[in-house]
Amino acid sequence: MELFLDPDDGRALSTQLYDQIREAIADGRLPHGGRLQPSRLVAQELGIARSTVTDAYARLTAEGYVEGRRGGGSVVQGHASPPPEMAEAPTALAPTARAAAVRRYGVGLESHPRYDLTAGRVDARLFPLADWRRCTNRALTRLARDVGYYGDPAGSIELRRTLTHWVTRSRGVAATADQIVVTHGAGHATYLMARVLLRPGDVAAVEEPGYPPITTMLRSVGVEVVGVPVDEHGLVVDALPDAARLVHVTPSHQYPLGAVLSRQRRLALLRWAGRRGAAIIEDDYDSEFRYQNRPLEPLHRLDRDGVVIYVGTFSKMLSPALRIGFAVVPPGLVPAITAIQQAVDFGVPPVTAQTLCAFIEDGYLDRHLRRTRKVYAGRHRAVRAAVAALPDSCLTPLPSHAGLHMTLLAPDAPDDEELNVRSTRHGLQLSSLRRTYQHSRPQPGIVLGFGAISTPDIPYAIELLASLYR
Ligand SMILES: Cc1ncc(COP(=O)(O)O)c(C=O)c1O
Repeated sequence: MELFLDPDDGRALSTQLYDQIREAIADGRLPHGGRLQPSRLVAQELGIARSTVTDAYARLTAEGYVEGRRGGGSVVQGHASPPPEMAEAPTALAPTARAAAVRRYGVGLESHPRYDLTAGRVDARLFPLADWRRCTNRALTRLARDVGYYGDPAGSIELRRTLTHWVTRSRGVAATADQIVVTHGAGHATYLMARVLLRPGDVAAVEEPGYPPITTMLRSVGVEVVGVPVDEHGLVVDALPDAARLVHVTPSHQYPLGAVLSRQRRLALLRWAGRRGAAIIEDDYDSEFRYQNRPLEPLHRLDRDGVVIYVGTFSKMLSPALRIGFAVVPPGLVPAITAIQQAVDFGVPPVTAQTLCAFIEDGYLDRHLRRTRKVYAGRHRAVRAAVAALPDSCLTPLPSHAGLHMTLLAPDAPDDEELNVRSTRHGLQLSSLRRTYQHSRPQPGIVLGFGAISTPDIPYAIELLASLYR
């Protein structure tokens, strides 16, 4: 415990020590059975006579707060049971109205429910722990000379080079290393773009329904967010607000409805943005998992005006816990982005970045994707089969060809709270479709994530789900 002495305090130094230790014992910060620091060390640290400390300790001992042990040492005699909840400290500080309006998404979700159909999760059992550990060791060896320094906020040049080869190979996105910015994921990449391209009060467009944290993040930086409808061809480009300076889209696999943005719409969106000089964030969050159809060309490849920012993430490919992704941006924006990264958090930790670099370079990522694609394709088939086998049609699946979730419409769904109570009772955890609507009347249904559930559990979980609606 840190002790403080105030030379301007009228009390004797030993009294100041005594008061602080007694208070810490009383409120449980110094737990029962814990040892006080040896008086010699305390005296050394505080630059005072040892007798000042022993005086304080002697008083605490006399009053029963501590017990002197033979052979030295003073042991706290506080609450044997857990201390009572500490009262909330009074504060004159309050969040601004804008900050107070920000709400967390997915609060109250369990980490390991019995049947996990939560959207946005991947299977921890598939994480390539041994390979990742090997690459982390290599990264630490490689970085040994550099641990005394902050890294490049945009990510090391090695990783940026590796990522240029990766996006070209996997998505046909042509980029040079100086166009790549390593980020804490797709959401963070979008945040950085908003910080660099938008002013408070500017308008941004997002898909409706969409991924709620994007709307939340944009509002938190003072941007006005407009929801634009989505149909079976993806974002309805004709409905974009004229004033929008930035559009966030998920063209490969619309979140959450699953549509692929048609080629016609892609071209229309690019024309729309090109005419206005508005930015398009192409959020390619899960396109590595594709079960049918060849992917359409990314917007980034079709872009002739330099308005598309391509955003990739390793949250689905590997793990959302790694917090790593990247953006391909026009080189002219890189200095402003990296200056913000440096000012905010200095970017992705170099050890994680270097580990990912080795993981891709040594072929582990390709191997991991070959394996997980098979598993997730099996789950995708199992979900479709289980839903199709339901005797009644209370759940209607939307077409789904990619990713780790499938959306089911459920017109007669109970409200979310009731559904939650019912499903939790059976150990089933779900993500509601309603929550992905931020701007208009929500449709009832489920965004069914099949990343975390084991394949044999799927038929039973879907049957359980259907029974909640009956
Ligand atoms: C549309 C969309 N974008 C981004 C993300 C998350 O990306 P990240 O973890 O890389 O921030 C998700 C997660 O499910 C998503 O659905």
